[in-house]
Amino acid sequence: MCGIVGYLGKKKAVPILIDNLKRLEYRGYDSAGVAVIKDSTLVVEKSVGKLSKLETIVIPKDYPSTIGIGHTRWATHGKPSDINAHPHMDCKGEIALVHNGIIENYLELKEELIGRGHRFLSETDTEVIVHLVEEFYQGDLLEAVRSAVKRLEGSYAIAVVSSREPERIVVARKDSPLILGIGEGEYFVASDIPAVLNYTRNIWILENGELGEISPSGCKVYDLEGNEKKKETMVVSWDISMAEKGGYPHFMIKEIHEQPNALRETFRGRVGVDGLVRLDFKNITVEELKNLKKLYFVACGTAYHAGLVGKYLIERFVRIPVEADIASEFRYRDPIFEKNSLMIVISQSGETADTLAALRMAKENGVKVVAICNVVGSSIARESDDVLYTYAGPEIAVASTKAYTSQLMVIYLLMLLLAQIKGTLPIDKIKEFVEDLRKIPDIATKVLEDLEPAIIDFSKRYYKAHDVFFIGRGLDYALSLEGALKLKEISYIHAEAYAAGELKHGPLSLLEEGVPVICLATQGYLLDKMISNIKEVKAREAIAIGFGIEGTEDLKDVCDEVFYVPKVNDIYASVITVIPLQLIAYYMAKERGCDIDQPRNLAKSVTVE
Ligand code: F6R
Repeated sequence: MCGIVGYLGKKKAVPILIDNLKRLEYRGYDSAGVAVIKDSTLVVEKSVGKLSKLETIVIPKDYPSTIGIGHTRWATHGKPSDINAHPHMDCKGEIALVHNGIIENYLELKEELIGRGHRFLSETDTEVIVHLVEEFYQGDLLEAVRSAVKRLEGSYAIAVVSSREPERIVVARKDSPLILGIGEGEYFVASDIPAVLNYTRNIWILENGELGEISPSGCKVYDLEGNEKKKETMVVSWDISMAEKGGYPHFMIKEIHEQPNALRETFRGRVGVDGLVRLDFKNITVEELKNLKKLYFVACGTAYHAGLVGKYLIERFVRIPVEADIASEFRYRDPIFEKNSLMIVISQSGETADTLAALRMAKENGVKVVAICNVVGSSIARESDDVLYTYAGPEIAVASTKAYTSQLMVIYLLMLLLAQIKGTLPIDKIKEFVEDLRKIPDIATKVLEDLEPAIIDFSKRYYKAHDVFFIGRGLDYALSLEGALKLKEISYIHAEAYAAGELKHGPLSLLEEGVPVICLATQGYLLDKMISNIKEVKAREAIAIGFGIEGTEDLKDVCDEVFYVPKVNDIYASVITVIPLQLIAYYMAKERGCDIDQPRNLAKSVTVE
């Protein structure tokens, strides 16, 4: 996730571009850049680091230019650096481009373009787009962009300028957001509405497959075939703070709603045309994966809960022993590092001190480490032998939501890849699992649409609870831990998770009349056992709130109320069912008036032990 902006008008472009980029920093902040046209030449200024650094470089230069584009980056391909920062330029330095999204076929395009004599400077996927535009350019930037985007696979929102057409910005979008702001004699481009609200409230929202051009005479939008499209002007009434959160009151709920897209982006490009999984390992060989005898998942908090899901799945389908451990425990328990083993560390921030220490320990003991990480260029990403990125974009709320579901997406893909390499599942079965996984982002959208109103109602009824219990078996036990953590973390309600079979070994004594018990029952093969456990709950007059997969009618007979998620394969139930649990935490905390995005005593990145 990155932020892009553009300006064309009568005022100096640079201060406006910087001002608008500031409102997009929530979309990325590892590097930034602008391109302006000055005396018919293109000037590009960019810098690694926060936008404030670029600001101190570029503002004193007081460029008179009244047209420009800008970018704030959240690295996906290529570490944060001056070279990898946008805008990127063509070989002649006449075209500059900013991009938000991921180009899946960039490697093959890059090879082709190098073959045609293009020189590449960065490690980014983006740079292929500007060279493609150069390749197609014959005096009309709009036509060149139209031809270029037809060659792209993946997602993009782009803004392009050329010194040969100094009064024109061309934009295009597919699967990444892009809006145009229509001011009085001035026009804006941005990834998101908040960026332009200081200047205009009249917005055109670009749809997938649309291109736009901005010139002093106004904005025009076309489809990929060149037909002009009429756009409706949306007049935005939000205040700026609301707009930064996409109209939501908190980042957490915005990020909960971003999950379908985060899942889609994380899946994107990782399945070949043969329907099998491709993960981009650079330093770990197929031979090493084939000979793998043991896996360690090591992480903290929510990321550890994702590791637990990995343990259940990989033991079941890849048939190798897997340990899932809390990093702060693992590093001090003198663990045994076995031959032919691999450690997988999971971290949203990539900076968690205990996880980093566990990673270093493994490497010192000759065990290679793969990171599942959201922040490119973070310490964990740099120090691991290989990284499988989650493409969730910046997560701002302290409580992790979209990073967790994206971590699960990577774990599912990894499990399928290992089963592929080790031959522990038939190829047809793997393909079937892959196809089911492809549908998960859309199912996540449906879960949000179907369950949010009911969860709001539920939260209004239960927000005064002192204690809430979460129980489940198998994958649902891992899910219980995550549900309970989310609830206690932001609502300050005491919440505990138990393996459902453990209740009778102690915790059952805590249950009494009226205590809510969230009973997760998405695993078909464990349903009968789970129903017996729910009966134990009911026998103590506690309130059983069931979560199951559509069609599990038996749950209705034993629970006080049941929430159903759409029919999915059991193994994917966790990534879907966690969404209503996140919503329960959010809406309960909201009812209790808690500081949701910054809960007391907590920090987003835990860089101390
Ligand atoms: C809970 C939460 C934390 C983090 C944990 C690890 O909602 O966000 O439990 O999961 O602090 O952080 P990362 O993933 O950055 O290593």
